[in-house]
Amino acid sequence: MFESLQAASADAILGLIAEHKNDPRAEKIDLGVGVYRTEAGQTPVLNVVKKAEQALIDSQDSKAYVSTAGAADFNAAMQALIFGDASPDDRLTTIQTPGGSGSLRVAAGMILRASPDASVWVSEPTWANHVPLLGSSGLKLTPYPYYDTDKHVLKIDEMLAALATAPTGDVVLLHGCCHNPSGLDPSKDQWRAITDVLVERGLVPFVDMAYQGFAEGLDDDAFPVRHMAGRVSEMLVSTSCSKNFGLYRDRVGTLSCLSKDTTSRDVVNSQVNNLVRTIYSMPPDHGAAVVSLILNDEETRNAWVIELVEMRERLRDMKVLLHDALLAELPERDFSHLVRARGMFCFLGITAEQVAQLKNDFGVYMADSSRINVAGITPQNVGYLASSIAGVLKPA
Ligand code: LMR
Repeated sequence: MFESLQAASADAILGLIAEHKNDPRAEKIDLGVGVYRTEAGQTPVLNVVKKAEQALIDSQDSKAYVSTAGAADFNAAMQALIFGDASPDDRLTTIQTPGGSGSLRVAAGMILRASPDASVWVSEPTWANHVPLLGSSGLKLTPYPYYDTDKHVLKIDEMLAALATAPTGDVVLLHGCCHNPSGLDPSKDQWRAITDVLVERGLVPFVDMAYQGFAEGLDDDAFPVRHMAGRVSEMLVSTSCSKNFGLYRDRVGTLSCLSKDTTSRDVVNSQVNNLVRTIYSMPPDHGAAVVSLILNDEETRNAWVIELVEMRERLRDMKVLLHDALLAELPERDFSHLVRARGMFCFLGITAEQVAQLKNDFGVYMADSSRINVAGITPQNVGYLASSIAGVLKPA
C-alpha cells in the first residue's frame, strides 16, 4: 500500500529547526520557528508554569479520562481571558483543544458540517500552515489581499474591497493580533471597518489568536475579537497557549464558537463535542490544568502577566535593536516596518535567494519568505546579524 506514496517535503517552518541544529558553525542564528527565546537563547519554562506543575503533581490524584471538551475550569477561565467581562456567555461554547492547530482542525470540521460549500477567505500572506491544515481538512480557501511586500504596509482598501465581494455565509480567517508572518495588524478603526463589511455581507469571522498578550497587552490584543463578538451573530475563535504560557509541546489551546442564541449554542456544543470524539477523542490534560491553576489564582495570574510583559518587551526591544543596526550598515534602505511590526515576527524584506545565501554563507536561518522570529536576536548577535544581512544586500 505505502509503495504508492511519494516522500513529502519537509515542513517550511519546522524543517528549519533540524537544519539549524545540525549546522556546526558557532555563530549561527536561528530566526526560524516561532518560539520565544531569552537573551541566552533559551526557550524557558515560565516560573509560574514550573510552580503550577509542582502543585499539580502534588495534588493530582487521577489520570482518568477527561471529557471531549476538556476541563470546565480551564474553559471558563480562557473564555474570560479571550472575551473579557462582556463575554456573551449565553451564546458561547468554549472547548479545550490540543494547541491552536488542534483548534483550527476542529473549527474546519465545524465549518464543513455546518456549511460545506462555504469558502474560507485567508489573508495573503498567512501562517505557512494555515492553507495546508485547513485545505487538507477539505475546506475551500480563497485568498484576500493583506500585506504589500514591497511597501510593507497593509492593503486595507484592497482587503475591504475583496471581502465586499464574498458571498454571504462565507468565512473570513483573521489573525487576532501579531499577524503571522508580517507582524502588521489593522488599527482599531480598521478593525471596525473590517467588522462593518463582515456584518453588511453576512460573513462569519474565524479569528486565529495565537499571540494574545504579545502585541500591546491581554485586553488590548483581544479588541478585535471582543468588538466582533459584540456585532456579529456567529463567529469562531481559535487560541493557543503555546506562546503566552510557553507551553508549546504540551499542546494547549481553545476553540470558541459564538452562536446566534442559546438554543443554537447548545446544538453547536453537542456538534463540536461529537466532532472531537471522531478526531482525537479528548484533549491532553496536563498543560491546560497548569493554565487553569495560573488563571484561577489571582496572585499566580499576576505573576504570569509580569513574565508575559517581559517576553513582549524583549521582542519589541530586539526589533528596535536590529532596525538600528541595519540602519548603520545600510543607511540608504528603509527598515522602519521592523519597528511597526507587533509580536514575534516581521518580514526582513529580502528575496528567497538572499535568504538561502544568508543560510549558506552566514548560518542565519529564516523562512523562505524572509519572515524572521525576532526572539532569535540578542544584543550579542545583532552586530553579526546586521553585517550578514548587509553582506547579501550590498552590491558586490
Ligand atoms: C510559527 O509560525 O513558526 C509557529 O506558529 C510554529 C509553527 O507551528 O509553525
